[in-house]
Amino acid sequence: MTSLLFPGSFDPLTRGHKDIARRASKICDKLYVVVMNNNKKTYLFDLDERVQMVKEVLGEYENIEVLGSDGLLVDIFKDLGCNAVVRGIRSESDFRYEAEMALANKMLCPSYDVTLLPCRDDLSLISSSLVKEVGSYGGDISGMLPAQIVDKVNERLRKGRT
Ligand code: PNS
Repeated sequence: MTSLLFPGSFDPLTRGHKDIARRASKICDKLYVVVMNNNKKTYLFDLDERVQMVKEVLGEYENIEVLGSDGLLVDIFKDLGCNAVVRGIRSESDFRYEAEMALANKMLCPSYDVTLLPCRDDLSLISSSLVKEVGSYGGDISGMLPAQIVDKVNERLRKGRT
């Protein structure tokens, strides 16, 4: 059985992330989507809230399991016994970042490997940061997010404006 691990902050999960999860779920028997922390970032939603939102959006896919972890990626990779990690890339700078992360993770765990999926053209400008930037000014973010979480994200961003 092949299993892949799709890690990310997902603060919040965008339509781009959802498309990567959907496509990754087709090339393995089991896809673990793991919500994690990047200690260089501050988050709008805490880990549990992000896990809940990702579960709500990806619940329709039978071979996807959503988990949360505030540890190292290589540790959960080993614990779950996955064949490889999946990450989506939108641009050359994403590629450079992912290549560096892959080398660092491989130093920590020799069996670590990563599959990079190029993002769909029409979703390539969407990022969680853009969602938060546009939404914080009251702009329309509904085209960037899965429908299930638009209200939740708008509500949290509205609180920041008051
Ligand atoms: O969606 P993001 O913020 O690009 O995801 C980055 C994430 C969370 C996958 C990365 O920061 C990560 O792996 N965090 C867990 C801690 C860890 O293992 N850090 C070392 C990476 S070399």
